[in-house]
Amino acid sequence: MRIRVPGDKSLTQRALILASLAQGRSRLSGLLSGGDASSTAGALRALGADIGDVPSDGGEMLVEGRGLSGFRSPDNALDLGNSGTGTRLLLGALAGSGVRATLTGDQSLRARPMARVTQPLSVMGARMAFLDRDDRLPVEVRGTRPLRPLRWDSPVASAQVKSALLLAGLTGGAFVIVTEPRRSRDHTERLFNRVGAPVVSHAMEGRWQVELRDPPARIDPLDFRVPGDPSSAAFFGALAAAGGAESSLEIEGVGLNPTRTAFLDVLRRMGAEIATEVDDAAAPEPVGTLRVAPSGLRAVDVGDDEVSGLIDEIPLVAVLATRASGVTRITGARELRHKESDRIVALVENLRLLGGKVEELDDGLMVEGSEGPLSGRVRTHGDHRIAMAFGVLGALPGNRIVVDDPAAADVSFPGFWELLGRVAGVSRT
Ligand code: S3P
Repeated sequence: MRIRVPGDKSLTQRALILASLAQGRSRLSGLLSGGDASSTAGALRALGADIGDVPSDGGEMLVEGRGLSGFRSPDNALDLGNSGTGTRLLLGALAGSGVRATLTGDQSLRARPMARVTQPLSVMGARMAFLDRDDRLPVEVRGTRPLRPLRWDSPVASAQVKSALLLAGLTGGAFVIVTEPRRSRDHTERLFNRVGAPVVSHAMEGRWQVELRDPPARIDPLDFRVPGDPSSAAFFGALAAAGGAESSLEIEGVGLNPTRTAFLDVLRRMGAEIATEVDDAAAPEPVGTLRVAPSGLRAVDVGDDEVSGLIDEIPLVAVLATRASGVTRITGARELRHKESDRIVALVENLRLLGGKVEELDDGLMVEGSEGPLSGRVRTHGDHRIAMAFGVLGALPGNRIVVDDPAAADVSFPGFWELLGRVAGVSRT
């Protein structure tokens, strides 16, 4: 069976932001629609960008960029819904604009840390004020231009932090060098290079360093087809690997950026048969087909060095571990506590209530595999990836799992449940 998944959430939001800041007309397609993408598009519109509704069929969308200083102060607070990427990247872009704006979001987003971004942006000269609680939305930004140059050693490997600082350097006309403890996804770097804002990156004294040394006065429009989201493809890869789909599943048009594919290495170590074929390795992003065949799964160790490359796929590793022989140990993943929910708690609680054997660690969890059926009603905590990971587990033969809030999936994967029914249904008839 062959399927496709919706456009990449990270790339969609970056493409919308860069297209709004470009000089001229950008041509985008394959965008994720709904959920996080509409939150970011709506915020950009309120800032004066010429952005219509994101097409729901992956069709072409034109964005008329207003230039690096084209934003205006919005009348009302910008509601970023559930989107951490939209919030943190816009905080960066706004820091270097002359705009005053308040950013807020839903309950899950208002519980997530923001000082990791506002602190370095304040060092650059932007004014950032938390209006309610320290380190949490809502936050008021007063941007200024030019910003001061920045050298920043981020304590966490975070593409959102790195991207916010690069965007501030771009709009604020300031040199930015940021290091991170491990390399996080590099989409911003690739798209910056594509629009004429040169970014280089390299290993440096055991850390990863990214440099925007010479921010341009204007950027070119973007002509870009967003690939399918590898993190969305991962749900179906996992389903197929664990025998929940027909013998082999092909996912076409999916992003295969090497900073996003560590999950495939983990699945291979668990025993899955996986092949990838890149159709277009050309810049800015590699795209291709992923093929997964079912096989018996065994437990795996996932540690510090690997986690940043599969941070969004750890819930899937944990649920698959219940179907693998042996004890799976996931460590070095403390960042999971700051995602759309505390994913360590959400995984441990839900796996336990389903009858799984699991132990919470400060920076991860341990899961023992078994063959017994798992059943019960899981709580998503408003987290799309928790909803979908348990959706996959529930679709495996023998399990009966009810997800309390299936609509949570919509922020990154509209149509997830229909596709799951179609792919998993095939193996049951
Ligand atoms: C994202 C980066 C990741 C990831 C998130 C999207 C991005 O977070 O979890 O879903 O688009 O930059 P980090 O900031 O922890 O890397």
